[in-house]
Amino acid sequence: MDTVKIFDTTLRDGEQSPGASMNVEEKVRVARQLAKLGVDIIEAGFAISSPGDFESVKRIAHEIEGPTVCSLARAIEKDIDVAAEALKGASKPRIHTFISTSDIHLEHQFKMSRAEAKKRAVEMVERARGYVEDVEFSPMDASRTDSDYLYEVVEAVIAAGATTVNIPDTVGYALPDEFGALIKGIKDNVPNIDKAIISVHCHNDLGLAVANSLSAVLNGARQVECTINGIGERAGNASMEEIVMILKTRKDMIGLDTNINTEYLYPSSRLVVGITGMMVQPNKAIVGDNAFAHESGIHQDGLLKEKTTYEIMSPESVGISKSTLVMGKHSGRHAFRSRLSELGYELGDEDLNKAFERFKALADKKKEVFDEDIEAIVQDEVLRIDVPDRFSLTELAVSSGTGTEPEANITMEVDGKKIEKSGKGDGPVDAVFNLISTITETKSKLLRYSVNAITGGTDALGEVTVRLSEAGHIVLGQGAHTDIIIASAKAYINALNRLELKKKEKKERLV
Ligand code: KIV
Ligand code: ZN
Repeated sequence: MDTVKIFDTTLRDGEQSPGASMNVEEKVRVARQLAKLGVDIIEAGFAISSPGDFESVKRIAHEIEGPTVCSLARAIEKDIDVAAEALKGASKPRIHTFISTSDIHLEHQFKMSRAEAKKRAVEMVERARGYVEDVEFSPMDASRTDSDYLYEVVEAVIAAGATTVNIPDTVGYALPDEFGALIKGIKDNVPNIDKAIISVHCHNDLGLAVANSLSAVLNGARQVECTINGIGERAGNASMEEIVMILKTRKDMIGLDTNINTEYLYPSSRLVVGITGMMVQPNKAIVGDNAFAHESGIHQDGLLKEKTTYEIMSPESVGISKSTLVMGKHSGRHAFRSRLSELGYELGDEDLNKAFERFKALADKKKEVFDEDIEAIVQDEVLRIDVPDRFSLTELAVSSGTGTEPEANITMEVDGKKIEKSGKGDGPVDAVFNLISTITETKSKLLRYSVNAITGGTDALGEVTVRLSEAGHIVLGQGAHTDIIIASAKAYINALNRLELKKKEKKERLV
């Protein structure tokens, strides 16, 4: 097979990143973008883990056309049954079941023998095959599993009906040569391996997730599990944009394709940043702000003479347009809708109207409106309503200056009741945050506060991100406004509403 299947797990493993949780509506939005991007498989969630995950798997399986839709399930009867229930009626369903196979996990965590784990794996693959034709099995912590035992398990699950065997480097421990040799070992030692696709799932604890995935592909893996921007548990998963662009840019050496429409990589990255609030570092390969920015005079000189002197792939090939200036105050609703669609936002009429009004107001103030401004408007105006608001801001006034103690006056609605209070702080933002926590009677800890001028100029929209923690939950909140104090208040209130949702979801969680 000369194509590598791209299995996206942004909505499952990616969502396990602290603070990256998404609600059902947001997951459906990302899934729609993943379908445009051309991923082969979307891991839409872990159906049994919460009602929200169940609903996401179900909605994505029914609403998104193109990719196979998959639910994760432990090798437990109830998990498989609930995954099958969420996927019922889907056109291309897959159940992905897993159990640990390393002695470290079996002895210390599962208190199970190797024979028991293998038996359970086989039984659960058979059970999953009773529901769907397409079953993936993962021996968790495979890279630290005894290789002869791993071959035995892989052979047994394929005989039981697994159509994909996924080899995870769960703790990001493997080295590229070692991991490639493991995949080769599986190819050489598992007699029925030609009946299944070998997949890999690498974590980035040592910064090797992409290198390990690539080494696996060079040794016969034909499915790679990855996430947009590499988000995921701890240091994350292999980054999809890197894997895809390595295969595309170095096809001369590797000779393999993917089905990805690469010009959607950057818009997809922006969409995930916008929804999760997890920023991408500026020097991140492919999608970082500096990935195509040439600073040195020598490089700029070379580029002007011939692009290929310093550019191994074009920014356009990953969806970064040459000029990000898109519109001004004369742009119409139609152009606005089509730009949003290119950026991955398909809005209904009501949401489009709200975003368009806000865009017009901004275009009146600013001569130039950039993609980033538009994304911030959609995030702020449209996506925010997906978090059911216990708290909302009605009015805000702040006074500060040299020689006066900053003071804020805020009116908020809390559970539909209006509350007005005034208070002081060390600075205007401090005064506002203190007051909001007094009004909402919340005791969260502020872990991070950052302000980003979305585009150049003092009239730019300021985007504020706050990270809060309370009772073991970590959430991000975002707010955008040309007045950064208002943006800060919106971000803080958004985070508090997300915390409320988390607390509610925890109560509803099944496992
Ligand atoms: O990292 C891991 O091992 C996983 C499995 C569930 C595939 O996420
Ligand atoms: Zn994982």
